[in-house]
Amino acid sequence: MTTAARRPTDIGTPIDRNLALELVRVTEGAAIAAARLMGRDRKEDADQAAVSSMRRSLGYVDMDGVVVIGEGEKDRAPMLYIGERVGNGSPPEVDVAVDPIDGTRLVARGIPGGITTVSLAERGSLYHTRVHYMEKLIVSQEARDVIDITAPVAANLRWVARALGRQVDDLTVVVLDRPRHQGLLEEIRAAGARVKLIMDGDVAAGLMAAMEHRTGIDVLMGIGGAPEAVLAACAVTCVGGGMQARLWLPDAESQEQAEREGKGGAAEVLTLQDLCSGANVFFAATGITDGELLEGVRFLEGNRCRTQSLVMRSYSGTIRYIDAEHSLDKLRLRQG
Ligand code: FBP
Repeated sequence: MTTAARRPTDIGTPIDRNLALELVRVTEGAAIAAARLMGRDRKEDADQAAVSSMRRSLGYVDMDGVVVIGEGEKDRAPMLYIGERVGNGSPPEVDVAVDPIDGTRLVARGIPGGITTVSLAERGSLYHTRVHYMEKLIVSQEARDVIDITAPVAANLRWVARALGRQVDDLTVVVLDRPRHQGLLEEIRAAGARVKLIMDGDVAAGLMAAMEHRTGIDVLMGIGGAPEAVLAACAVTCVGGGMQARLWLPDAESQEQAEREGKGGAAEVLTLQDLCSGANVFFAATGITDGELLEGVRFLEGNRCRTQSLVMRSYSGTIRYIDAEHSLDKLRLRQG
């Protein structure tokens, strides 16, 4: 167990209410705000619109939240910075992880797969690091006990295929399209598995791998953002999938950061429990641009729009898909 992981007895007051529907209102609002800027090639503006909306609506949620995965440090991020208090201050005490847009580039270019997402869990239960990247391995429930991120790629694919009752060449592995993944891609292809490269958005991709029987993606492999790893871990926890990760420390700066935090280094395997040890974890996401997991925001006649969201709670195992139609006039009135 890492220094950041906590035993259930260490974590804050239990969450005895279902905050799922409150959370989905947060992601719906952020998605609508960001979707207005789809394809306008204004990454920062789209992100800012989602951040402002998310922060405003998080303020109405009955919780005493602290942002542990957010927009960065206080002096650089005016809103939703790490350590910021969110919610209306009433119990329960929770850790909040936000990614107002996962796939900012996708939204700025109008490409599929941009989502907005937020998670929460008992205070002290989410992994925190300022290291930027993690290596991730995510699979569905059927294969969660057979993976080992320290083992060769081919071995993992063989074990996953066996657990799913398939051949390696029937598997689809999703990987972020990055030069750093050249060696990984060679190994996956040499093992015989199919590959799906994505431009951005490994939270949604990780969730799809964890929900394998619904999405056609069996495994997520490769290096992506560390904050996204924690959000993905919340989602994977909710659907009962499997995940392992390791900090990616390619240079002296990242190694020193990990050392300052007292982390175990690049070799230390972070389990799902290390990343997210809550017993009551909530995860909500809403599509901004159309994607394989969620439809994007559609603007309709009569100044209305439609959103598609997913909201999950680990305690009950409930997964809700929510299609909602919103009156933009009334939304504006409510948001002042
Ligand atoms: P942003 O939308 O915050 O830019 O993140 C997009 C993303 O693709 C994540 O899904 C992923 O974890 C990360 O970027 C990978 O980082 P990089 O683009 O630096 O390889």
